[in-house]
Amino acid sequence: MNKSMRVWMYALGLAASSWAAPLLAEGAAVNTAPVDTTLTRGAMLGNTCMACHGPGGESAGEGIPSINDLGAERLESLMLEYKRDERMSTLMGRIAKGYSDADIALIADYFAN
Ligand code: HEC
Repeated sequence: MNKSMRVWMYALGLAASSWAAPLLAEGAAVNTAPVDTTLTRGAMLGNTCMACHGPGGESAGEGIPSINDLGAERLESLMLEYKRDERMSTLMGRIAKGYSDADIALIADYFAN
């Protein structure tokens, strides 16, 4: 980082802290909700898939396939194929590589049940 960037970062920091201080002083805008510890690991990992595949894995349109009706075995084998570059994809190969085989099994189980 060069000097002018550091000056900007410092100025932004000052601006942000003077903006945020009154909010915190009033006790507002602080999220104190407890983390939901009742979620299984499969549910926790699976929830992120729904951003694209839709609530419960049922997608809203043709662009992205539903994954709620594949069954655990099929879903798991598709994910493993993506992970090993045995199946063509625009996105899923990148995503699948982020999960261990054990996590993929948990995710598949989650969507099947
Ligand atoms: C950023 C959007 C996005 C996310 C997040 C995402 N997917 Fe996908 N998924 C896609 C797209 C797009 C395809 C179509 C294949 C491709 O081009 O990658 C796809 C295809 C699939 C398929 C193949 C379905 C079929 O019938 O051919 C499976 C299985 C799948 N995704 C599972 C998952 C799982 C499990 C997760 C969460 C770990 C996940 N996806 C997260 C976008 C996403």
